[in-house]
Formats: sequence, structure tokens, C-alpha cells
Amino acid sequence: MKRIQMADLVGQFKKIKTEVYQAWEEVLENASFINGPQVKKFASNLELYLNVKHVIPCANGTDALQAALMALNLPKGSEIITPSFSYAALAEMIIHVGHKPVFVEVDPSTFTIDVNEIEEAITDRTKVIAPVHLYGQCADMNTIMKIAQKHNLYVIEDAAQAIGANYEMDVSGKLKAGTIGHIGTTSFFPSKNLGCYGDGGAIFTNDDNIAEELRMIVNHGQVKKYVHKRIGLNSRLDSIQAAVLNVKLKYLDDYGAARKRVAAFYDEAFAGHQNIIIPKRQVKSEHVFHQYTLTLKGIDRALFKEYLMNYEIPSMIYYPIPLHKQEAYKQDIELPITMDLTENVISLPISTELDEEQLAYICKHVLVFCKEQTLAQ
Ligand SMILES: Cc1ncc(COP(=O)(O)O)c(C=O)c1O
Repeated sequence: MKRIQMADLVGQFKKIKTEVYQAWEEVLENASFINGPQVKKFASNLELYLNVKHVIPCANGTDALQAALMALNLPKGSEIITPSFSYAALAEMIIHVGHKPVFVEVDPSTFTIDVNEIEEAITDRTKVIAPVHLYGQCADMNTIMKIAQKHNLYVIEDAAQAIGANYEMDVSGKLKAGTIGHIGTTSFFPSKNLGCYGDGGAIFTNDDNIAEELRMIVNHGQVKKYVHKRIGLNSRLDSIQAAVLNVKLKYLDDYGAARKRVAAFYDEAFAGHQNIIIPKRQVKSEHVFHQYTLTLKGIDRALFKEYLMNYEIPSMIYYPIPLHKQEAYKQDIELPITMDLTENVISLPISTELDEEQLAYICKHVLVFCKEQTLAQ
């Protein structure tokens, strides 16, 4: 059996090696390293794929969030409603730009923002709702967009983990994650569903004015060369990465299908188990399974993780400390669901390359451990 990895990037690379080398040769032969044709081609390929008017490539998913927040030109101290059970980049950038994250709970079954908490969190300073499409499926965007419209708020979607996921909007039909709100962002970190071989990110919008602002921001606030209209960033996707992304974008839906096959295998093995809750799907969202995350019930997670490691099965905890408890973003608030999840979630290996032998081996050991634990209690 092949060694099991959380994400088998080498196995995936081997299948597209020739195409990637060819694309790289083109960049190297033309020395078109910065803002070259590969970057422009990628932006327009992704616009087509996402069916969105503007894709603005940038250096990483964190910059994408920073640029999105800057582009709205909000008054300092604006409040932005976002989940605490998430990766740190969004809260970090909210504070960086001079605003305040207002942390709310997630729905414990889908891990995305609890829409029932949003309206209660709105004050006169609230300007943005910022859902995170955690683990690969969209938050309840129908409700979020309704609340945003009612209260005249912007919506920034952090789609770093959900690129390619379709979402069924009640009014406008099927839309891609990150293209529903006013601005969407993503990351091309290597292990992401659409990952490059270094850092990369992008911002999406259908709004021409926001797009113009974003293009300026990622390029030192320049309207044209050496004319700086506003404070910006130096945030570029480089051509070497864009070349990889042009190849991989063609396979993104196949990658999604492979991830779904892994998820279906796990679902079948664990559905209805008394100690393991399988990830629930949002009714209107496709799940592209950036992660396959279980919630454990009556199981010692540390022991479970250690047991799996002894059988060379890696696992990860996304995320062990919620944002409102982090020293950098600490807030004295109670979020019991978030606390409970940080103590009980565990993500199993998921990648485009896992085969049935590996999956059967993982499932067998998960089930044996749970049985032994139950017997010991
Ligand atoms: C939800 C989410 N947002 C933002 C980011 C930041 O992306 P990057 O690492 O490219 O800056 C990540 C990356 O892990 C993420 O998972």
C-alpha cells in the first residue's frame, strides 16, 4: 500500500508533469515572470470557470482578504461579522485594516456561520458579513444575502477552501462559491483544491467599481505607472504559479469528483456510528471536500489521533483554538458550540490520489479504535 498522506501533492503532480513543464518553459523562454501572459490568461480562464465578471489575481489568500477589505473604503472601526471557528487570516486582516471582527457561532453540523446569530450581532457600526466556506461547502448564502440586503451590508465570502463549489441561489440559480457576495476571495496554497506550487490567491467580484479599486490596491494603489492614487499593496500572482494554475484549472472538476468519492467512502463506513458524526451537507451547496471532518462523541481525540499515527494514518485538527481565544484576537465572549467543536473535530486524509485500499485501511482502523474505546468504557 502507498504511504497515506493528508494531501498527496506529488502523486497529483506526476499526472500533469508534462503539461506543467511545458507551461513553465513558455514562461522561462519569454522571461515573462511578472504580470505575463500566463497571469492574464489565468484570470480570464478563472472568470469563465466561475462565471464572474472580474478575477484579480494576487499573492496569496490573506492578501486577497486584505485587498477585499481595503476596497470597500469603510470607516475605521467598522464591525465585520464572521465566525470564530475558522482559519485566522480573515480576523487578522480585519484588524490589520483597522476594523473589528464580531465573532459568532457556526452551525455545528455544517461548520459554517450560524445565520440565526447574524442579525443579533448587527449594530450601527456593522458594515460587512464575512462568511467562511469552511472545509469545502458554502455557508447559507440565501439567508446571508437577504440579511445583508435588509441591513445594507456588504458580503465578503472567504472561499479559500471551497473554490469550484456550486451553490443554488433561490433567485439567481446556480452560482460558484465566492461569486455570490459583493467580493469573494480564494487561496492557491499548494494543498488547496486548486493549489499552485508556491503562494497565490485571487479576488472575485461582479462590481466594476470594486474591481477597479482592487486592481489599484494590488498594484501599489497605482492608476497607471508611477501614479499612486491610494495606499495599496504589492500583491502579485507570479507567472510561474499562474502557469501551474492554468493547467490545474482544467482538472478542478475532476479533482472535486475524486474528493467526493473519498468522502462517499468515509460516509458509508461511518454513517450512523454512535461515536462519529459525519459532515452534514448544506442543502443548497455542493461540497468539494477541501477537508473531510468528523465530530467525535465520547471519544478521546488525542488518543484517537495517536492511535491513527501509530498505523501511519495522518490526521489534522482544523482548528484547535478558536479565534476569540487566540492571544492576538482575544475577546471576552462565550461561544460554547465553537469551543465544543475545537475540542472534538478531526480531519481525515483527503486528496485526489487516495485509493480504495488506503481508504479501507483508514476506515478499518477508525472503527477498531472506536470499538475498543467503547468496550473500555
Ligand atoms: C479559510 C482560509 N482563508 C484564508 C486563507 C489564507 O490563504 P493563504 O495561506 O494563501 O494566505 C486560508 C489558508 O489556509 C484559509 O483556509
